[in-house]
Amino acid sequence: MKVTYLGHSALMLAHNGVSLLIDPFITGNPLATVRQEDLAPQFILLTHGHADHVGDTLAIAKRTHATVVAPFELINLLEAEGLQNGIGMNIGGTFQFEDGTARLTPALHSSSYEGSYAGPACGYRIDWGGLKFYHAGDTDLFGDMRFFAEESIDYAFLPIGGRYTMDGLAALKAIRWIYPRHVIPMHCNTFPEIQADPDAFVLLVNETTGSQGLVLSPGATLELG
Ligand code: NI
Ligand code: MN
Repeated sequence: MKVTYLGHSALMLAHNGVSLLIDPFITGNPLATVRQEDLAPQFILLTHGHADHVGDTLAIAKRTHATVVAPFELINLLEAEGLQNGIGMNIGGTFQFEDGTARLTPALHSSSYEGSYAGPACGYRIDWGGLKFYHAGDTDLFGDMRFFAEESIDYAFLPIGGRYTMDGLAALKAIRWIYPRHVIPMHCNTFPEIQADPDAFVLLVNETTGSQGLVLSPGATLELG
């Protein structure tokens, strides 16, 4: 199992020749180190409709015929723009793919797509290749994150940029509730409004929580175990 961080909240998980892309904001992402043309996922998961998460979804899906999973209302809006293999879901729903599952989890955030209501915002709990992942999407801290502690999450991807999501201070509290084995900060430094220091954050994670923080630079690939 490998993860490639693509900058912002975009990342790709790859296992046994199958790849799953989350929130592929590549074109227009000043931190991106790849082109959308270089990505060929079988599956795309979207946390919500904002442009910095939907990103290149339509272009990638049209080119690769990837299956796109997203909240129901967002899929409807993307289908109106030509998306073919959309699977509209809602919080609590589980998408099964190959030998993995992706479950839509709550997120405390808004969601719209090109000015239209795009349903709820969500995160994802992914079980794949013997590992448990949590991609929080855009969210503030919320109390029910405590329940994730029961699930023994291996890798949690959490926003730390503030302004539109929780900041690093709130993310530290989230980590004490979620108690993942590893934490990877995201959704920071893409724009001037969301400046944060992921290295300082990870230092605090390692010093003050029982989790291990990891900073992934955009373009970096990590072998997971
Ligand atoms: Ni957003
Ligand atoms: Mn965002």
